[in-house]
Amino acid sequence: MMNLNINGKTVKVEAEADTPLLWVLRDELHMSGTKFGCGMALCGACTVHIDGQPTRACVMPLSAAAGKKITTIEAIGATPVGQRVQAAWAEIDVPQCGYCQSGQIMAATALLRAIPKPTDKDIDEAMSGNICRCGTYPRIRAAIHKAAGQA
Ligand code: FES
Ligand code: FES
Repeated sequence: MMNLNINGKTVKVEAEADTPLLWVLRDELHMSGTKFGCGMALCGACTVHIDGQPTRACVMPLSAAAGKKITTIEAIGATPVGQRVQAAWAEIDVPQCGYCQSGQIMAATALLRAIPKPTDKDIDEAMSGNICRCGTYPRIRAAIHKAAGQA
């Protein structure tokens, strides 16, 4: 039994300390917004925020997440930057199949918190670990600029 702080609530979970956070989110807590892609920290589909830092939930053991603030796609829209990012995503109609997009939004929100007016280079660097098999990268970049208030 372990307590996790997820989206501002304390949640008790029954899992071994080395269970990846992603498994608990999806299978135990039925929070399906965070996606399973590669399971090896290679694609970014499972990105959540741990104390505000974008983190791959597929390789994050529960023991390392306990005691930290975990934020998932289900709650990112409740933050001012997350709200701007989601609005820009909708306006530019970024997703194609949508599978990678929770992770993209989590990565983009973390970027804009760290760098409110990112350049294309900043965006490419921050987003390079988030793979989109549908190739929505140009729209992702445009949506990040839009969320930053840059036309
Ligand atoms: S599923 Fe975690 S990085 Fe791919
Ligand atoms: S929208 Fe399909 S993988 Fe990114």
